[in-house]
Amino acid sequence: MNAPRIDCNERLSLRPVRVEDAEVVFRIIDAQRDYLGQWLPWVRHTQTIIPLRQFIRESIRFNSGGQRLTWFIWFDEQIVGSVSIVRVDHANSAAEIGYWLSRDYQGQGIMTRAVAAVMRHAFRQMQLNRLVIKAPVDNHRSCAVAERLGFRREGVLRQALQLNGHWHDLALYARLRDNWLAQEE
Ligand SMILES: CC(C)(COP(=O)(O)OP(=O)(O)OC[C@H]1O[C@@H](n2cnc3c(N)ncnc32)[C@H](O)[C@@H]1OP(=O)(O)O)[C@@H](O)C(=O)NCCC(=O)NCCS
Repeated sequence: MNAPRIDCNERLSLRPVRVEDAEVVFRIIDAQRDYLGQWLPWVRHTQTIIPLRQFIRESIRFNSGGQRLTWFIWFDEQIVGSVSIVRVDHANSAAEIGYWLSRDYQGQGIMTRAVAAVMRHAFRQMQLNRLVIKAPVDNHRSCAVAERLGFRREGVLRQALQLNGHWHDLALYARLRDNWLAQEE
């Protein structure tokens, strides 16, 4: 199962990552290093474009193998962020969703729409049964995305993430296919 292009509306689409997108994405990460690095551990390991290119190449391989699906989010023909289906557990039909958005494009519902589209793909095309979002309890914007999309907070994983030398508790959110289908119909 590979990662298809998903058109959310005429301005917003999810497109599988490409090596030629690396420069643009690196520019966003580099310009927003402090902001994104607050919540994303990999930002501090992305000091040059080289690890990003490696990540993209690996993601392209995984996109065709189905181990992990990674898209860049395009809004008005600009890359503005990324969304992925990670930790795909085929034995249990479960996976986790991860995401980030350029600060310049927040507050417009872009990520909520992008994650809704990924959720549809995961439940319909991939036939997954359980989707998880793990967000630091103090990352209110990320928790709000999960809550807006009907994910249920199942608990808190204490000190489960270390960021810049500090421990963070992770809120564990999940949405089940049955519940999603019931609301889709
Ligand atoms: C987490 C993150 C993606 C959330 O971004 P966001 O812009 O708040 O989320 P959305 O794009 O869904 O936008 C929601 C906002 O748009 C508003 N909005 C406008 N139209 C909307 C619509 N049609 N649907 C949903 N929300 C809409 C919402 O009311 C909300 O507004 P608020 O900012 O006043 O609360 C972003 O903060 C980010 O990338 N942070 C850094 C990296 C990170 O934390 N990643 C997650 C790690 S767990």
